[in-house]
Amino acid sequence: MERELDQLEAAALEELSQIDDLPQLETWRVRYLGKKSALTSVLRGVATLASEERKAVGARANTVKKSFQIQLAEKKESLSLRSLDESLGKSSLDVTLPGRPLPYGRMHPITQDIIEICSVFADMGFQVIEGPEVERDYYNFEALNIPRNHPARDMFATLWIDSREDSNARLLRTHTSPMQIRLMERQKPPLRFVVPGRTYRYEATDATHDWMFHQVEGLAIDTDITLRDLKETFFEFCKNIFGRDTRVRFRCDYFPFVEPGAEVAIECVKCKGAGCRLCGGTGWLEILGSGMVHPDVLARCGVDPSVYSGFAFGMGVERISMLRHSVDDIRLFCSDDFRFLRQF
Ligand code: FA5
Repeated sequence: MERELDQLEAAALEELSQIDDLPQLETWRVRYLGKKSALTSVLRGVATLASEERKAVGARANTVKKSFQIQLAEKKESLSLRSLDESLGKSSLDVTLPGRPLPYGRMHPITQDIIEICSVFADMGFQVIEGPEVERDYYNFEALNIPRNHPARDMFATLWIDSREDSNARLLRTHTSPMQIRLMERQKPPLRFVVPGRTYRYEATDATHDWMFHQVEGLAIDTDITLRDLKETFFEFCKNIFGRDTRVRFRCDYFPFVEPGAEVAIECVKCKGAGCRLCGGTGWLEILGSGMVHPDVLARCGVDPSVYSGFAFGMGVERISMLRHSVDDIRLFCSDDFRFLRQF
């Protein structure tokens, strides 16, 4: 039996040395180490042998099995390495080359400016919050002292979702001021918030007007807020956003939800007040509307106007971005022109 095992080992190893690929190696494994192989049947029959023979044949069969397993593993490794080498040699892929960088996007200039504007207000103690773009007539108009048929509705050409006759009609908000009402309804004073977001108007577009643009609303309500706080807040804001020397114009304006109301304009950064396309020849660009919150608006939201006062403002972000980056047409911001967008 031992001689047979010697012959089996010699034949198997001779065969193994001729093998040249992995499928042949698998056939060899099944033939010499598989369940139906001669070696496996010897090992199974060991128990039936006489005791003196059992020990010697068992030891020899196990040695042969071990030797087969070691040689099989070595052969498998060398064949695998060879096939990897061959496939790398065949393809032109150089795995040592550094990867190609993926082009990554950047933030839109308006988003960058909103973040900067909000961080200037955050430094002054304002919290940042967002609100719904689809609004109700009540929040966009009624609660802001603009009842149905009030001529001030003409200031805000509206994109309606429901019939405008419906008292609960939905619309695309024409300004961020509805958030003044939502904030006062939600929280007792003191309040200090800025609200960035998109606004929509049913308007023809030109170099300084778009039908969709961004505003940042501001609201501060407390026991002793005056017009002076409003002016100081803007001067601080303008200093941070446009630089210390920028001239700011503060003029009376009318908005039904503030009393008194004011409009703020910045001296045109492009022509320095001489008049150009960017400022429409006036030397100034209006960036926001503002004022002291009307007592009726406070009372409607459950804030006692004999105790509390406050200011509110709504600034046009695109107008600010135009001034900061000397862009002379607002429509470029939504034009998808990568030559324009890649500059920021
Ligand atoms: C308002 O929207 C008021 N809600 C602002 C306000 C808030 C007043 C709080 C008082 C208290 P106005 O329509 O003027 O006001 O718009 C405010 C700013 O948005 C403007 O100064 C301008 O910078 C910008 N803006 C207005 N219409 C457009 C437009 N079509 N395209 C681009 N920017 C615009």
